[in-house]
Amino acid sequence: MTDMATHGDRMKFLHNQWYAAALSTEIGGTPFPRTICGEDVVLFRTAGGTLAALEDRCAHRHAPLSLGTVDGEVIQCAYHGLCFDTDGRCVRVPGQDSVPPQARVRRYPVAERDGWVWLWIGEIDRAAPASIPSLPYFEGSADSAGWAGFQKYFHVKAGAQLFVDNLLDLSHVAFTHRNSIGSSAAADAAFAMEVSVDGTTVRGLRQVFDVEPGPFIANWGNFPGRITRRSRYTWRPPSVIDIEAHFHDAERAITIMVINPITPETETSAHFWIGWARDFALGDRAMTERSVEENTQVIMEDVEVIEAQQRVLSRRPDVRAVPIAADRAVVAVHRVLDRLFADQTTER
Ligand code: FES
Ligand SMILES: [Fe+2]
Repeated sequence: MTDMATHGDRMKFLHNQWYAAALSTEIGGTPFPRTICGEDVVLFRTAGGTLAALEDRCAHRHAPLSLGTVDGEVIQCAYHGLCFDTDGRCVRVPGQDSVPPQARVRRYPVAERDGWVWLWIGEIDRAAPASIPSLPYFEGSADSAGWAGFQKYFHVKAGAQLFVDNLLDLSHVAFTHRNSIGSSAAADAAFAMEVSVDGTTVRGLRQVFDVEPGPFIANWGNFPGRITRRSRYTWRPPSVIDIEAHFHDAERAITIMVINPITPETETSAHFWIGWARDFALGDRAMTERSVEENTQVIMEDVEVIEAQQRVLSRRPDVRAVPIAADRAVVAVHRVLDRLFADQTTER
C-alpha cells in the first residue's frame, strides 16, 4: 500500500468536471447563491423555465447578482439595475441606450438530472452532459419506478475529500454509527472485501456475515435476528459515490440505494447530499418521513467526526494518514485522484 497524500497536498479542485450544485427543487425564480470549488455562482430559472448559472458578480461595480431579481428571461442587479441574460451578457443598462460590450459575466454550463442540478467547472467547450452519472432513483428521474425515498442537502465544515473517504471506508460504520445503522459487534465479524479500478472509476464490494443489523436496519427490514450485509459502492470523479446496500436473512431481503454527491465549497467546506431510495414499502409515506430523520442522524454522526478531523488537519496540514487494510478503496481513489491532478497540472 502506498502512502496517501497529505491533506495539504490535496488542497485544490479538479477542473473539467460536473459537480452537483443543488437539488432541482432548490432552484426557482429567486436567485440562489452557492460557492462551488471556490467560485461564487448564482443559479436561477427564468420565467420561461431556462435553468441558468452565472458568476455571482455584476459586471458594473461587482454587487452579487444573487441580491437581484429574475425578470422574465434576465437577472437584474439590485444595485443599478443592469440586466444579464442566461449567457451572462448584459442586455440592458437603465438610463442609456447602449450596452458596453465588455459588460458580461461568466456563464457556467448547467444540466438537470435525477433531481440534481449539475454545474460544470472548467472549459465551457468541454462540458458534455452525457458524462453526468445516471442515478435514476428519485422523483426527478425519468424512470424511478420501484424506488421510494428522498434527497436532502447538508452543509459540512470540512473538505469534500474527508467525506468521500468516510463513505469509501465502511469499517467506520461499526463505531461511528453504533447507535443507528451499525452494531459494535460488526467490527469483528467475518467479512469479505473487493476493490477494483476501471479507468477512473473505483468499485468496491464489502460483505459482512452473520451480524446484528443495528436498530434502524432491523426496523426497515423487519429482521428479527442476525443478517448478512452486502454493500457495492462506486466512486466516480470528481466526488460522486453511490452505494447499493443489500441486507438479508434466510427469509427477507431489502435493498437501499444511497447516493452521495459531494461538492467542494472551499478547501475546508463542502456541500453534501444524500439521496436515499428503498425497494420496499414503496407507498409508505410515514416510512419516508422516518427515514429522513433516521438518515439525518446517521449523517450528523459522520459530520461530527469529519468536522473535528478538519479542525485537526487545518492545524496540521503536513501529517499523513496511515492506511490500514480497511482503507483499500480509499487508497485506490487517492491514486486515481493523484493521476487526475497530475494530468490537470500538465494540461496547464
Ligand atoms: S453593480 Fe450591478 S448594476 Fe451596478
Ligand atoms: Fe458514515
